[in-house]
Parts: sequence; structure tokens; C-alpha cells
Amino acid sequence: MKYVFILTLLVVAAAGGMMGTAVVIRWNDNMTETPKIVPGERVFKMPQGVVPRGGDLVIRKEQREIAAKQPNPIKASEASVTIGRERFQIFCVPCHGPEAKGGTTGPVATKFIPTPDLTNADLQKQRTDGYWHSYIVAGGAVMPAYAEALSSEEAWHLVNFLRSVARK
Ligand code: HEC
Repeated sequence: MKYVFILTLLVVAAAGGMMGTAVVIRWNDNMTETPKIVPGERVFKMPQGVVPRGGDLVIRKEQREIAAKQPNPIKASEASVTIGRERFQIFCVPCHGPEAKGGTTGPVATKFIPTPDLTNADLQKQRTDGYWHSYIVAGGAVMPAYAEALSSEEAWHLVNFLRSVARK
């Protein structure tokens, strides 16, 4: 009789344990919280042999030296600078300020990290068009990447605009 009692106890304990395990697994493995990638969070490496349609391959920011060597394919015409200025007002002014002078001239920069003065002649000389294009497309240390919001072409227009505001 005693053994039957112990056996029953064991069966009950085992059933309880299994139910507990099921609860723990479902708790940790919540299907409503699957891994997700937020737009702009990562730049994916293209699988080998893939050709992008209507765009340029995004070179990751870790390979900035390669990207910096890319020549600017778009002439810095007035039309290009105008497109660049328009995009700058939409995407960049909050952090870089209306005249790209940086510091805390942008409303977001007062609460975020003050940005560098992009009109600075020394910085302008130091950076290639490709470097800045890469900075816009792939992002910087803190600056977000714009590969999903702007086409590669628009990023070149932005570079042309930034060159136009360089302090002499
Ligand atoms: C969320 C704020 C933010 C926005 C929006 C932003 N930037 Fe920046 N940017 C920064 C910060 C901060 C830096 C300083 C470097 C760093 O920390 O990444 C920077 C640096 C730069 C640089 C200098 C890189 C160098 O060292 O030569 C360029 C060029 C630039 N940004 C262009 C742009 C353009 C063009 C846009 C709009 C498409 C833009 N940024 C939007 C925050 C921003």
C-alpha cells in the first residue's frame, strides 16, 4: 500500500514538472516576440553574384576606405545642388542645422550629440566625396545610415550640396 502511495506521488510530481517545463518553454519562446530587424538597423551583405536592381551595392561602413575611393558620378551642377539642398532639409537639418554648421544649430542636436561643422574648410579638404557618400549611405559612429531612405544618387546630390556650402 505504501509503495502505491509513493508511486502516485511520483506520478503527480512528474506531471507537475512537465507542465512547469511547458510553461517555462512557452514563456521563453514567445511566438509574438520573434527576432526582428528594424529598417536601417543593419546593412546586409549581398549574397555573392547578386546584382542590385536600380541601385548601387551598399559598401558597409567597416569598409569605408574602399567606399572613400569611389568617384562622384554626378556633376555638381546647380540642379544637383538643389536636389541635395532639398534632401538635406528633409533628412539632415534636425541634427546638422539649417546651414550644416553643426554644433547645436539643429533642434535634435541640443538633446543629442552635437554634430561637426560640415562647412569647415579643413574637414572639407580632408574628406573625399566617396567618404561622405559612404557616411550618408552606411552611417557613422553615431549618425544613422540612410541607405533605405535615400538612393545612392540622392546621397551624391547631398555630397554636392555639402561641397557648395564649404567655407572658403
Ligand atoms: C540623428 C542625427 C543625425 C542626422 C539625422 C544626420 N547626421 Fe550626419 N552626423 C551626425 C553626427 C553625430 C555626426 C558626427 C560623427 C558621428 O558621430 O557619426 C555626423 C557626421 C556627419 C558628416 C561628417 C563625417 C566626417 O567625419 O567627415 C557628414 C558629411 C554628415 N554627417 C552628413 C549628413 C547628411 C547628409 C545627413 C542627412 C542625410 C545627416 N548627416 C543626418 C548626426 C546626424
